[in-house]
Amino acid sequence: MGRWDTQAVGSGVRRVSRSLLGCFLGAVLLASCGEDAEVVDKPDNTGLDPAIESQVDDWLGQMTLEEKVAQMHGTELLPADRIYPTADNERLGIPGFRMVDGPRGVAVGQTTTFPVGMARGATWDIELEYRVGEAMGAETAARGANVLLAPTINILRHPAWGRAQETYGEDVHHLSRMGVAFIQGVQQHVLASAKHFAANSIEESRFQVSANMDERTLREIYLPHFEAAVKEANVGSVMSAYNKLNGEYCAENRHLLTEILREDWGYKYFVESDWVFGTHETPPSLQAGLDVEMPKDKIYGQRLVDGVNDGSLDVKLVDEAVRRILRTKLTFKLDQPEQVPESVVASPEHRALALQVARESLVLLENKHAALPLTNTTPSEVAVIGGLSDTINLGDAGSSNNDPLDVVTPLAGISARLKGAPLHIDHDVLTTADETALASQKVAIVVVGLTKEDEGESIPGRPGGDRETLGLSAEHQALITRVSELVETTIVVLEGGSAITVAPWVDQVDGLVMAWYGGMNGGTALAEMLWGDFSPSGKLPLSVPVNEQDLVPFDNQADSVDYGYFHGYRQLDDDGLEVQYPFGYGLSYSSFEVSDLQVSTNKGAVALTLTLKNTGGVDAAEVVQAYVGYPGSAVERAQRELKAFQRVEVSAGQSVQVELQFPKGSLRYWDTASAGWVLEDLEYEVGVGFSSRDLKLNGSFRVK
Ligand code: BGC
Repeated sequence: MGRWDTQAVGSGVRRVSRSLLGCFLGAVLLASCGEDAEVVDKPDNTGLDPAIESQVDDWLGQMTLEEKVAQMHGTELLPADRIYPTADNERLGIPGFRMVDGPRGVAVGQTTTFPVGMARGATWDIELEYRVGEAMGAETAARGANVLLAPTINILRHPAWGRAQETYGEDVHHLSRMGVAFIQGVQQHVLASAKHFAANSIEESRFQVSANMDERTLREIYLPHFEAAVKEANVGSVMSAYNKLNGEYCAENRHLLTEILREDWGYKYFVESDWVFGTHETPPSLQAGLDVEMPKDKIYGQRLVDGVNDGSLDVKLVDEAVRRILRTKLTFKLDQPEQVPESVVASPEHRALALQVARESLVLLENKHAALPLTNTTPSEVAVIGGLSDTINLGDAGSSNNDPLDVVTPLAGISARLKGAPLHIDHDVLTTADETALASQKVAIVVVGLTKEDEGESIPGRPGGDRETLGLSAEHQALITRVSELVETTIVVLEGGSAITVAPWVDQVDGLVMAWYGGMNGGTALAEMLWGDFSPSGKLPLSVPVNEQDLVPFDNQADSVDYGYFHGYRQLDDDGLEVQYPFGYGLSYSSFEVSDLQVSTNKGAVALTLTLKNTGGVDAAEVVQAYVGYPGSAVERAQRELKAFQRVEVSAGQSVQVELQFPKGSLRYWDTASAGWVLEDLEYEVGVGFSSRDLKLNGSFRVK
């Protein structure tokens, strides 16, 4: 159990941790640990620890204004080791923060490189994500930092967003569950930071764009995962976003940082700005509730001291911010850093975890005539093709970039699995000699997709930014077409951090795998899956449209964008559009059936039980998904929304009982007129199946 369990930090933390452990060990398959916590064990975030508050009072009483202000900003613009510090107060023995990036691995020196967030989202495996968080938290501590600047939990409004790879997907519920698990894991060792608060979803214009939306859209679509991070995971830090929300910069947005985050959700710890361009003016930032400016003192520091001294800024606001900072440091025991040995960094256990995540993240999109798994192939019958086939391709070149240790590329993984060298064509445009060589091959594995040149955080002088198109480059498309003409069986492997449209060429291929940016062991996992060592179980955490025009607009040049209530599968359903691959979709080498759906309600929750049977010939995992519809609702609603899911491993021919559960509170809508939540008395519909468009069982329940 975590290191905070033994201390008095408010009962919520301990109860959530116990509930989490129970969830892992329990015989019953609950929908998710977080939901269990939300239903029966909601943490009390308003409770403060008297001993901690008294220590804070004591320190505040002793601190000069300059010492208080020194707590409120970072001290290094570009630290060589990538650990961003805030000042220690040596006189009083108050440690500073040491912040480090890392949604895909800790960004200090060489560490474990995990599959990116979107790949981890495709696992739908909450327990596994908890373990990833726990591993990253341990590596953060081992490298001497105390705040991990992760997870990125911005909803994926549009797959062209350059940082799509960092987050977990397009759905509020799925994103909440993955984010909560990661934070709970990280916070066994150090603080996590939920970023970027809020509605950060475009790169090119991120420093100035205003995302405009009504309060209902904000509360229901852009914030619930942050609320879950606060209430369920007790996250220790929140990073404000660069962009504006409804015309106000997020770091100056009192509605966001104080009224919602603190007053409504009971958040007790600190908010730091996003880096360099994330702060603007001193008074509105202080008044909004921004506590720590990073990475230096552009608007805080001397300007705060001067403002208090000349009476233009209220010292009480400084005291409140410093109180939150000190409370965080005491609560998370920053003065007693855990001694984690360097040997945990990229340890055999963490590497094995990275491999397991890569395995579970692979999404099989096409498997015509059971082309996969490949069996009875010798190395000489196989061709591995494409510039990406032997390229280290772990994600973008932005702040989440971490230094790769050894990396297994697709070619290396396949060669190891085959115990021999296949024909390798390491470029995207075939020569005549290549074509001649290919004509005698039985199987072609074509590795194409995206790199840091195509997508990523937008940092001047570095590759990245938003995507120009959701399709493959003309070169990659031509490569697929030509190979499929020459070779009997063509398997395409896509790398990338988000949706890739496939309509122009998918008819030509026999197998199609979404491999994302699979981390340091991605090539091993891919080869194992292609040759049938395990059955794929990854499911898309986003929708792949037929045409990108089917999606909501994505304008990364505008300074102001209006965000409606619908995006992703909710919008595609609402517009009645065909999709290429629906949210939640992914094939298996086995087959599954669900039956015997029972729906019941108790005081706080809706419970579903059903039987899941593996009707195929191999052991496999399936993700059972439950979606709710709202016929007769007084307001416009999505046709269906994900409310619960569970990844379940089932041996061939076996059946298991699955129990899914979700709180009744998750069915409510935000009523703008009364500025509150409304839970409607309705006959709700529930569908259970294997994707948002593949609901096998239907039921209903009444909430009064
Ligand atoms: C990014 C943050 C990151 C920070 C520190 C910013 O540009 O938006 O996600 O944590 O830099 O590297």
